[in-house]
Amino acid sequence: MPTNHPVKDQILARYTERTPQSRALDAQAKTSLPGGDTRWATYHLPYPIYMARGAGCTLTDVDGHTYLDFQNNYTSLVHGHAHPAITAAVQAQAVNSVVYGAPAEGQFQLADLLTKRLPGVDQLRYTNSGTEATMMAMRAARAFTGKPVILKMDGGYHGSHDMTEVNITPDLSDSRLPIPKVEADGVAEAVLGAVAVARFNDLESVEMLLKARAGEIAAIITEPLMNSAGMVVASDDFLPGLRTLADRYGVLLIFDEVVTFRLHEGGYQAKTGVIPDLTALGKLIGGGLAIGAFGGRAEIMSLYDPARPNGFHHSGTFNGNPLAMAAGMASVSALTPQAIDHINQLGAEFRRGVDEAFAEAGIHGCATGEGSLAYIHWTAEKVTSAADVVRWKQKAAELPRLLHLELLNQGIFAANRGMFNLSTPMTAAEVDQTLAALRAALYTLKPYAADLTPHLIM
Ligand SMILES: Cc1ncc(COP(=O)(O)O)c(C=O)c1O
Repeated sequence: MPTNHPVKDQILARYTERTPQSRALDAQAKTSLPGGDTRWATYHLPYPIYMARGAGCTLTDVDGHTYLDFQNNYTSLVHGHAHPAITAAVQAQAVNSVVYGAPAEGQFQLADLLTKRLPGVDQLRYTNSGTEATMMAMRAARAFTGKPVILKMDGGYHGSHDMTEVNITPDLSDSRLPIPKVEADGVAEAVLGAVAVARFNDLESVEMLLKARAGEIAAIITEPLMNSAGMVVASDDFLPGLRTLADRYGVLLIFDEVVTFRLHEGGYQAKTGVIPDLTALGKLIGGGLAIGAFGGRAEIMSLYDPARPNGFHHSGTFNGNPLAMAAGMASVSALTPQAIDHINQLGAEFRRGVDEAFAEAGIHGCATGEGSLAYIHWTAEKVTSAADVVRWKQKAAELPRLLHLELLNQGIFAANRGMFNLSTPMTAAEVDQTLAALRAALYTLKPYAADLTPHLIM
């Protein structure tokens, strides 16, 4: 909802004054890329900032400004930019060719590393994105059980294939069960016949669907913590409850750990002891290169053995390419329990600092998340569902967008939806610097909030 206010004008004016080269490149890009964009998550008005290089936890834009990177390519750069071991691994592999069209050792070396760490993954297969990973995990569940339907959570994001393009935007109706709807243009309505939608943190809604349709439902898929939806954390009983329900009704449980793997050496499944039948992975396991993987119990995954008569089919020109394997090995190896503790502690400090900054500013707001993941909400009330996140955002006018732009003006690079994540090169100094920028930004935004969203003023 566009609004008019002098604070907004000032923020936008500063943004455009600082970033003339980005503006020029955006104009140039519009000729061959629709709107200058090739990825929704990185586009925002008035135009996104073009980056020239990254090092550690910093990015430098084409106008020469440096930013602390709290976006990290949406969590995939858990070690920040140009990590020495990852760069060396990529360089060493690149001189020996980037892909062979034949197997290479790196494929099973990275798989060994991952299967040792993730208790629910005995074997795995690679894809080239998290999207393909969840697509294949869902397909594996349908092939294994012989049942057609996947149960997902309202507001859950699992990439952009057709089966997941349902209720990414949560249902805001009062209906006991979310009303399923197709999300993206061009996705056939028929997909709704193969997807059921329950509410996260609401086991009753899951059981209602399982009771009615267990004969059709192959699997439940969820992120253990809903990241894109707004870092919505599972209540203590939710994940164990899903496991119990999956067993009771004879359906598989799929965890999408594309993002949550970073929270514990063995992923969220090891952290909670709730072991899924199938797991989707991506992002950090490629050390910054394009990757995905799906894996699970040997009983299911062994059906992909190509020597097996009637084995499950799975192909992809770049699956397990040596470059991604090399970067992935370096990335996962460097993500030690100590490194994870380090970023998780910084993340906790960051979320605490966000809550304090809002309280000091006299504005209702808070951060949710866990470990090295955080999300800023314009409410101090408990956020337990994707629908809560959207409802509060709708009441915040343009504050989320203006905060994002004002933080960029101050050299803090975060996701425009309000998501922050930490990388291993960060220290308390970067967290302090970012919290200071947040305090200043809230001070700048307060007159806007007072005029346009007075319910947010304490
Ligand atoms: C939880 C989750 N699953 C799957 C995906 C899709 O991964 P990719 O963008 O690599 O296709 C994402 C991407 O953000 C994600 O956050």
